[in-house]
Amino acid sequence: KKKAFLFDLDGVIVDTAKFHYLAWRNLAKEMNFDFTEEQNELFKGVSRVRSLEILLDLADYDATEDQKDIWLVQKNTEYLKYIDKMDESEILPDIPRVLDFLLEKEQGVALGSASKNARPILKKLNLIHKFEAIVDGNDVTAAKPDPQVFLKGGEALNIERKDCIVFEDSIAGIQAANSAGMVSIGIGEKDVLHEADYVFQDFTEISDAFLMELIER
Ligand code: G6P
Ligand code: MG
Repeated sequence: KKKAFLFDLDGVIVDTAKFHYLAWRNLAKEMNFDFTEEQNELFKGVSRVRSLEILLDLADYDATEDQKDIWLVQKNTEYLKYIDKMDESEILPDIPRVLDFLLEKEQGVALGSASKNARPILKKLNLIHKFEAIVDGNDVTAAKPDPQVFLKGGEALNIERKDCIVFEDSIAGIQAANSAGMVSIGIGEKDVLHEADYVFQDFTEISDAFLMELIER
């Protein structure tokens, strides 16, 4: 039976969190604020606009709408400079094996990401051709934990919600998958992602046999 496997991008397929962090940190300096890696955790799975709001809150900084627009462009311009240097070596371990296994079993494979940079990143990684559908930050009106991004992914593949399986590294993303009525698989720490149906440290822990179980159940 054909199921839909919906992948988040940042933190699941590629570790871009470090690049987002560098770009936000430089912006924070302009607010005279020292943005820590720990605080960067709050930004995972969160849209660009919302991330800036959180940063302004943390820095206790009042910015005009014009200043916010300038900063959003500035942050993304710097982020894209890091992305531009990225190549296939940045793909997280065993992602190619899992994608190829699912495709060989004729399963649906789609992307469900909050990022507006998802397509250029997948191209850089030479993975874009593996995805039957791509739903990203340009396609949604409500961000995770709203289920919209995954619902659209399932619809694009014409697969019922209960036959959709989501891979996510953020709490908001797991909540989105759960409220969509999909199977949620957390990639990361068990204590952080305890709301997920299953949690694995990374894809090296996800065996072909487990994938087969998901396909057949
Ligand atoms: C992902 C990342 C977030 C990022 C968001 C928007 O969810 O985990 O850290 O803010 O995408 O990304 P973008 O590339 O559009 O700025
Ligand atoms: Mg993520």
